[in-house]
Amino acid sequence: MDDMATSLRGLTVLVTGASGGIGGASAELFAAQGATVYLGDVDDAAGQARAHALGPAAHYLHLDVTSEENWAAATSAIAANGHALGVLVNSAGAAIKAPLQQTSPDGFRKMLDLNLIGTFLGIKAAAEAMVDGGSIVNLASLRGVLATAELGAYGAAKSGVRVLTRVAALELADRGIRVNAVCPGSIETEITSVPDFAADDTTAYVRSIPMQRRGSSEEVAKTIRFLATDDSAYITGTDLIIDGGQAAGVRTPKIFTESVSK
Ligand SMILES: NC(=O)c1ccc[n+]([C@@H]2O[C@H](COP(=O)([O-])OP(=O)(O)OC[C@H]3O[C@@H](n4cnc5c(N)ncnc54)[C@H](O)[C@@H]3O)[C@@H](O)[C@H]2O)c1
Repeated sequence: MDDMATSLRGLTVLVTGASGGIGGASAELFAAQGATVYLGDVDDAAGQARAHALGPAAHYLHLDVTSEENWAAATSAIAANGHALGVLVNSAGAAIKAPLQQTSPDGFRKMLDLNLIGTFLGIKAAAEAMVDGGSIVNLASLRGVLATAELGAYGAAKSGVRVLTRVAALELADRGIRVNAVCPGSIETEITSVPDFAADDTTAYVRSIPMQRRGSSEEVAKTIRFLATDDSAYITGTDLIIDGGQAAGVRTPKIFTESVSK
């Protein structure tokens, strides 16, 4: 345990998408440091198993983030347990990979519904539940920063999450509620191992990352913890890119450097 272990005692955290990679790692990190953690997801079996493994201070809630009723039920359940919501991590999300020409309007709407409207509903529900200030961390994506071919619907939703984050930060600042986002690049989770992505030339892709590797859920979780806690007390309305350097710019191709040095 590090020296933050005691500082998260008494904090109540709700993590959506907590049956998955980044949400799960975040729930584990907060729980390990003494917080009461509510894990929300639609994958009930995985979420329940994870909450059980985390011990008595972890609770699983069925929470479909696209459902306003589910959000109301979740925040009511937390309050009924005598807990005051302090942190919301909006991690539920998914990506569909397809060129725009092959994306149906229905598929596009589904991406917006889950990734963008789900986050909007979470912000609304948390803002109502957070009576004494708090912190909301939204999962945007590098794909909402750098336009990425074949990730149009997902990227549009995630760039929307970035603007939504700033609007919420402006509107909630006077209530002591901070709202920030993280923009992960490529992180090893279920999302990056689905066949749509696995079909890509992974070696070439990883070589294009300046740090030459994908990130881990734990690395993203630590950044989420930073934005969620008082370590970032004066930060609101920002988004933090976690991408091994991909958004920093373009590296000089190796063959070019070699010919110049000759
Ligand atoms: N993995 C990456 O490379 C990466 C990169 C950038 C952004 N992100 C974002 O990070 C977040 C977490 O992604 P991950 O990599 O952990 O993915 P993941 O697939 O491991 O986890 C996503 C979780 O969301 C849950 N979920 C799906 N629909 C839901 C709904 N309607 N309501 C509640 N839960 C629902 C899934 O059951 C799953 O447990 C997502 O918002 C994703 O877009 C991931």
